Amino acid sequence: MSTIRLGDEAPNFTAESTEGKIDFHNWLGDSWGILFSHPADYTPVCTTELGTVAKYKAKFDQRNVKVVALSVDGLQSHEGWINDINETQNTVVNFPIIADEDRKIATLYDMIHPNADSKLTVRSVFVIGPDKKIKLTITYPAATGRNFDELLRVIDSLQLTAYHKVATPANWNNGDDCVIVPSVTNEEIPRLFPKGYKEIKSYLRMTSQPNLN
Ligand code: BEZ
Repeated sequence: MSTIRLGDEAPNFTAESTEGKIDFHNWLGDSWGILFSHPADYTPVCTTELGTVAKYKAKFDQRNVKVVALSVDGLQSHEGWINDINETQNTVVNFPIIADEDRKIATLYDMIHPNADSKLTVRSVFVIGPDKKIKLTITYPAATGRNFDELLRVIDSLQLTAYHKVATPANWNNGDDCVIVPSVTNEEIPRLFPKGYKEIKSYLRMTSQPNLN
């Protein structure tokens, strides 16, 4: 078991998946990535989650994010279950699902929380940047389906910080004003934020979302 913290390199692995063998780092390439686990195939909440992820493919593509799911079930189980997901969720699963039967990856990423369930993975989420570093971890319990709009919101925030030197305030949503990161000096602001900014306090400087017209 290893603890994975923000800023750590995402441990690499090879795995069998429904789209063939994956070398995780090679598979990610220059993309952002989401690795997420679910407790088991043929379970109701997981069925809705994987259907939702399939429907969000274009939203992840727009953000240059590759998504891969994982559970400790085998490939045959995944393949049968995909038919059910496609049928019941009205979609086509368009991302790989890793078969981690020996729990190698679940152990590497600490996805089994024995006091919750001794054998099955919890609902872990890891967002990985193009530098292969861990940018976000979230853990949900088995009975709570994830909010994938929240994941998109966080990815938008992470990318605004990475590419535009802004952070996002409480309850921020796409289009709302952003916070200029503290490492930007007032002298740099006119060049970086030509649309202007508002200094509420010396440490609280707001600007309109920089990647919008
Ligand atoms: C589900 O995926 O539906 C689920 C799994 C474990 C406990 C409760 C729900």
